[in-house]
Amino acid sequence: MDIQKITVIGGGLMGRQIALNSSIYGVDATVYDLNGDVCDAVEAWAEEYLAGRIAKGRMTEEQVAEAKKLFHVERDLDKALEGTQCIVEAVVEVEEIKRNLFKTLSDKVGEDVIIATNSSFMVSSKFADCVKNPSRLANMHFYNPVLVMKFVEVVQGPHTSEETARSLYDYCVKTGKTPVWMKKELEGFCAGYLLRALKEAATWMVQNGYCTPQEIDLACENGLGHPMGLFRLNDLTGLDLTLDVMKRSYAETGVKPDMYDFYEKMVREGKLGRKTGHGFYDYE
Ligand code: NAI
Repeated sequence: MDIQKITVIGGGLMGRQIALNSSIYGVDATVYDLNGDVCDAVEAWAEEYLAGRIAKGRMTEEQVAEAKKLFHVERDLDKALEGTQCIVEAVVEVEEIKRNLFKTLSDKVGEDVIIATNSSFMVSSKFADCVKNPSRLANMHFYNPVLVMKFVEVVQGPHTSEETARSLYDYCVKTGKTPVWMKKELEGFCAGYLLRALKEAATWMVQNGYCTPQEIDLACENGLGHPMGLFRLNDLTGLDLTLDVMKRSYAETGVKPDMYDFYEKMVREGKLGRKTGHGFYDYE
C-alpha cells in the first residue's frame, strides 16, 4: 500500500511532529487528540513552526502552503478517521489506555487500515488481541525531535504481515526518514537494545574500577565517534531518572545494578545533572 493519508492519534510532543513531518513530505495527515486544548496548541505550534521555516530560509512560502493544505487538526474522532489508510498511535505510554484505544479504533475502521504504534517500550503483539486484523498492526517508533531525527524503527511482530511492514517502511522513506525494518520484536527495538548493552558495559567498567565515567565518555566521543558520551548524555536526561530505572530493575530482579550506590549518593546530594548544575560534570 502506498500510504498517502494518515491519522495520528495523540497530539502531544511526538504526535504533532509525526503528522507535520508527513505533511511537509506530501502525505495528508490529520491529528486527533481528546484534549481540545492540545488541539488548539497543535494548530498554533504548526503555524509557528512553518513560519519559522520560511524565516530561516529552509522552506519556501509555496512549500509551506502545500504542507498546510495537507495538515489537519480534528477534534472529532470519526471525522479524523475518514478515508485514512494508516493510523499512528502516539498517546501516553500507558498500556491500558493504548489497549482501549486500539479496540475503539479497530471497531471504527476497515480491516485494511494499518495501525502503527509509536510506543517507546511496548511491542505491538501486546495489542494483537485488541484489533480485528492483527496482520495490519506493527510498531513504528520515531525519535524525538521527529522533525529532525531521521531514524525510525519499523518492527514486524509475529502477527504483522510483510506487506504491512513494507508499507510502513516505504512511508518512512517517503517522508524523509532512514528506517530499519526489524523482522522480529525485541525489547528496546534496535537502537534502545544497543544503548542498553553499551550502558551495562559502561557501568560495569566504572563499578569494577577499570575507568571513570569521564574516561568512558572519552572512549565514546573520541574512540567511537559518538556525538556525546553516555554519562554526558545522562547529565542531560537526569541522574534521578536513571536511578528510578535502576530501582525498578533492582526490585524486579533482586540484583543490584552496577553504580547503583553511586547514583543513589549523587541524587541524595542533589547532583542530578544539568538541571541542578552538577552531575558527572559541573555546569556554571
Ligand atoms: P505526550 O504526553 O506529549 O502526548 C500524549 C497525548 O496523547 C496527549 O496530548 C494526550 O492528551 C493524548 N491522549 C491521551 N489519551 C488519548 C486518547 N485515548 N485519544 C487521543 N489522545 C489521547 O506524549 P509523547 O511524548 O508525545 O509520547 C507519545 C507516545 O510516543 C508514547 O507512547 C511515548 O512512549 C512515545 N515516544 C515518546 C518519545 C519522546 O521522546 N517523548 C520518543 C519516542 C516515542
